Amino acid sequence: MDKTLILYYSLEKNTEKIASHLAKELNVDIERITPVKDIKPKGFSKYLTGGFQASFKVKPKLNPIQKNLDQYSNVIIGTPVWAGTISPSIYSLLEKGLIKDKNIAFFYTFKGGDKKTRDIIRKSVSKYNKLISIHSCLSVDQDFDNQKDKALNWAKDLLNDNK
Ligand SMILES: Cc1cc2nc3c(=O)[nH]c(=O)nc-3n(C[C@H](O)[C@H](O)[C@H](O)COP(=O)(O)O)c2cc1C
Repeated sequence: MDKTLILYYSLEKNTEKIASHLAKELNVDIERITPVKDIKPKGFSKYLTGGFQASFKVKPKLNPIQKNLDQYSNVIIGTPVWAGTISPSIYSLLEKGLIKDKNIAFFYTFKGGDKKTRDIIRKSVSKYNKLISIHSCLSVDQDFDNQKDKALNWAKDLLNDNK
């Protein structure tokens, strides 16, 4: 694979923990995607606000990405699942064409409700980019050690396949 970048959104750190582990072990660049106005990670209101935003396909305005995307042909994108779909910030990234013409390997963290998530990822990624693979990480908060190893094996296989 050519130069690889990890881009991720995370509200409660699960996706961040996986993304950081991959970046460290694979020795690749990493950047967190942030909306200009994010929801609060504490309390129940996050489920209402986040669930609403995700369900209604809100595309929040993002803070500018600091990395020069032209330098990367391969991007690993990570997101939590919200209301069965991808987080609004990653939806913005993909659907507004803020990232284009990349090979995308996509992972998501979730708690067990991902029935339509893969179809949504396929559709959103392929709008402006090429989807290479999807990987899911179940209950990272309770099963981090196992999930981080599985995610790393997945990513390593991809890097080897595309050498
Ligand atoms: C607003 C909101 C909606 C969620 N919806 C789902 C869901 O539909 N299915 C699911 O399996 N998990 C759902 N979850 C759980 C998260 O996907 C899971 O905890 C994830 O690992 C959080 O990632 P993060 O820590 O990087 O933010 C939801 C969490 C939040 C905050």
